[in-house]
Amino acid sequence: MAFLNENYLKLQAGYLFPEIARRVREFSEQNPDAAKRLIRCGIGDVTEPLPRAAIDAMKAAAEELGRRESFHGYGPEQGYEFLRSKIAQFDYRDRGVDISDDEIFLSDGSKCDCGHILDILGEQNKIAITDPVYPVYVDTNVMAGHTGPVRADGSYEGILYLPCTVENNFVPEPPREHADVIYLCFPNNPTGAVASRAQLASWIEYAREHNALLLFDAAYEGYISDSAIPHSIFEINGARECAIEFRSFSKTGGFTGVRCGFTVLPKSLLAQTESGKKSPLHFDRALHGQRADLAGGSDQRGFGSTWRHKCALYLGGNAIR
Ligand SMILES: Cc1ncc(COP(=O)(O)O)c(C=O)c1O
Repeated sequence: MAFLNENYLKLQAGYLFPEIARRVREFSEQNPDAAKRLIRCGIGDVTEPLPRAAIDAMKAAAEELGRRESFHGYGPEQGYEFLRSKIAQFDYRDRGVDISDDEIFLSDGSKCDCGHILDILGEQNKIAITDPVYPVYVDTNVMAGHTGPVRADGSYEGILYLPCTVENNFVPEPPREHADVIYLCFPNNPTGAVASRAQLASWIEYAREHNALLLFDAAYEGYISDSAIPHSIFEINGARECAIEFRSFSKTGGFTGVRCGFTVLPKSLLAQTESGKKSPLHFDRALHGQRADLAGGSDQRGFGSTWRHKCALYLGGNAIR
């Protein structure tokens, strides 16, 4: 009989959202007036339909696949060049941020990338996560066996939680303790908090002091209206040496059902082996410059190739610009 991944038995996700629903119901019954103004921080979805440009590009891409002359099968593992270069240009270089086309990895959404990234990180990392948080960061680490058992309050042993409170305006400062991997999400789900340039700079300083990696989820960057607030961690000096960024078309293009996102992984970002040897996390760099076994199979597992292909086709290179 096959063995189960027993880490799955630790998951509390099945309890979290029913528990939120129960508390909302109880609060609403006791406070009917306040209930009208209640902001729900449980599971949500987008409310707007796909933009016309995306619909037209999807139709054109389907037609292209339906003709023998223009049909093509599997695409490149990291995503189609036409889309990678458009993203690198529009979302980064046009904003003065130094990101090259081959540092963009297309995928079936940033939720998936937040989970898949653990495939190329070691088991021994100390993980820090802001609290409250988008549950995917916690659950993927639980499933990967990076935590101990759940505690009575729903937190997991082994994770360093960074409380987001009224006192810190929902943006925690770097901790005194050491962490190897820190998840940051700004604008934040569920609090809506944004991080200033100075706050992000302090996280980069921490990462550099601790040789830590920042996993920066910018799924909601399209909601930023204050020009002083950075859209990308790579707007801050030093981030290329210590950060990976996740982006999503779900919130900006209504793509929750279509599924498309991307990860930005700089070639200058290093990680270390157990013996202390440094190696790039970027797949091409790791393969060409260093030892291929470190990146072992990440072209196949790391960033989900078939979906990436499909979504890149859908986007048609300039669909949502
Ligand atoms: C913080 C955060 N990151 C990522 C995602 C998922 O994005 P995607 O639809 O691209 O997987 C969500 C969706 O709710 C989110 O809130």
